[in-house]
Amino acid sequence: MDSPRPTHSIDRLVEELETLARISEAEPPVVTRIVFSEADLRARAYVKGLCSEAGLSVHEDAIGNTFARWQGTEPDLAPVGTGSHIDAIPNAGLYDGCVGVLGGLEAIRVLKQLGFAPRRPIELVIFTAEEPTRFGIGCLGSRMMGGVLSPSKAMALRDKDGRTLDQLRQQAGFTGSLESVQLRPGHFHRFIELHIEQGPILEQEGLDLGLVTAIAAPASLRIQIEGEGGHAGAKLMAGRKDALAAAAELILALESAAKSSGADDTVATVGVCEVFPGAVNSIPSRVRLETDVRDIDAARRDRVLTALHEACADVSARRGVVITADLVNADPPASCDPAILDTMEDACIAAGKSFKRMVSRAYHDSLFVARIAPVAMLFIPCRSGVSHRPDEYASPGWIGAGVHVLARTLAKLSS
Ligand code: GLV
Ligand code: MN
Ligand code: MN
Repeated sequence: MDSPRPTHSIDRLVEELETLARISEAEPPVVTRIVFSEADLRARAYVKGLCSEAGLSVHEDAIGNTFARWQGTEPDLAPVGTGSHIDAIPNAGLYDGCVGVLGGLEAIRVLKQLGFAPRRPIELVIFTAEEPTRFGIGCLGSRMMGGVLSPSKAMALRDKDGRTLDQLRQQAGFTGSLESVQLRPGHFHRFIELHIEQGPILEQEGLDLGLVTAIAAPASLRIQIEGEGGHAGAKLMAGRKDALAAAAELILALESAAKSSGADDTVATVGVCEVFPGAVNSIPSRVRLETDVRDIDAARRDRVLTALHEACADVSARRGVVITADLVNADPPASCDPAILDTMEDACIAAGKSFKRMVSRAYHDSLFVARIAPVAMLFIPCRSGVSHRPDEYASPGWIGAGVHVLARTLAKLSS
């Protein structure tokens, strides 16, 4: 016989988070769930099943953004939205994104159990591909929803095996016109995303919750360096055009530009470095880099991008290599809605939870939902600020506080 289902909401939620984490392309405790992979589709089916069990009506758009609606007593009013993503980068943990999806569902279930009847609908959203792993661009679903990425540009995106987004989404069963993904401003009355902080501040300061006032501005470049290959023993050092040595200079130039920006908020990372042909006794002839630069101040971030372009020109001239740098995205920061922040603050006080206002240095789907609706985010602590790693951890108590305040906020905003 099956073991009895826990009735306490946090036990149920933690059990569901752990079940979702086991739907992975990697062995536990590693979570890897790349968009439109078999694991992503199984994870979507699991979450959609939970939403249906909770009495929500589920529909999907042409890119796979999933909407689970709790109807309001005035169903024609714009819904209050909440949600996040369930895709996961390679070698991830189980809380990033998933806490906002399953925590949002739990907040809805708790309100239902309490007999609450929302006036406005409440809509849980599971965004497609918040992570940039497959197509090199983050927040694909919310970006299209917010009208920031055009359908024609989206269709042409390719993964590293050359398959287009259009092919892959159709194979995954999402077939409608991509034009229909963009939502009009006003589709959501308000939108709130629950998420782990992905930084150490809340835990260090012993606080239950962070109320996010602004989301940093991310930018990403793909850089290709074409040098000249050859025999690692026979070809002398003079006159070499080693693409990896050139890449090393660029990586260090980027690091130095970020470190000397004058603000701790500037961060820059080269997270992908592919070397061709990748043999120990062969001079690298081609290197592909993917870079990620962020700041809460877009102008300061852009100065780092300019420094990187200057380094590309300098390295190319000195080393005789050909460098192409393609800007994948350079998004403005988003400000959160003061009225939602005040509502969340009242909810924290009513729930007896400690909090502070803070910025988000990670990007989130809310950055793009902000184009069509007032948004805010609610952060819970995560141990030692660790994220994007299998040892990412948020305690049931931290998650419970987040769900509690989210539920109160959703109730207030939908009344
Ligand atoms: C989101 O995953 C980010 O990289 O900030
Ligand atoms: Mn992430
Ligand atoms: Mn996330």
